Amino acid sequence: MTRMRPMRSEDLEWVARSEREIREFAWGEIQFADSLAAGHLCRILEDGQKALGYAVVMQVLDEAHLLNIGIARAEQRKGLGAFFLEQLCEQMAQSGAASFFLEVAVGNAPALRLYQRLGFETIGRRKAYYPATGGGREDALVMKRDLSGC
Ligand SMILES: CC(C)(COP(=O)(O)OP(=O)(O)OC[C@H]1O[C@@H](n2cnc3c(N)ncnc32)[C@H](O)[C@@H]1OP(=O)(O)O)[C@@H](O)C(=O)NCCC(=O)NCCS
Repeated sequence: MTRMRPMRSEDLEWVARSEREIREFAWGEIQFADSLAAGHLCRILEDGQKALGYAVVMQVLDEAHLLNIGIARAEQRKGLGAFFLEQLCEQMAQSGAASFFLEVAVGNAPALRLYQRLGFETIGRRKAYYPATGGGREDALVMKRDLSGC
């Protein structure tokens, strides 16, 4: 059964390796370790036998901020990202968050489509927010979902 569980320090090597496989400008193991140490909501999506994905969410008062989400390359396009994000929304609503915010690179079509499908709306744009292939910078869209229905 696919379920979400807390990320542990034993997961960090797999998480960082998976991140390198799916993102050009990947977080290193140290950033995930710092997130655990900071008390952010760090979760692993697993099927009971193996890890399928990972996510980091920071909560500030009644705002949740998605800092990272990834589904292992071999597991993508199976509906897991949508399932995971919906679970995270429910968890954050239960933790008292009223809104869920995230940033996504304008060129990250899979993530953008996922977020739109899950009810996130674009509320702003940050110029040259992310490093881009070829040494340039890429804008980020700021997106928000109201968690009151969760
Ligand atoms: C973004 C990501 C988490 C999506 O995970 P996933 O498990 O593949 O997503 P799902 O299978 O649940 O797909 C949900 C919807 O997202 C969109 N989507 C997912 N992958 C897509 C792709 N490669 N191209 C276009 N749309 C895509 C589609 O709308 C899809 O619905 P559909 O399959 O019914 O058309 C995954 O692609 C990933 O880990 N990417 C690398 C890390 C990353 O970019 N994270 C986001 C940082 S902001």
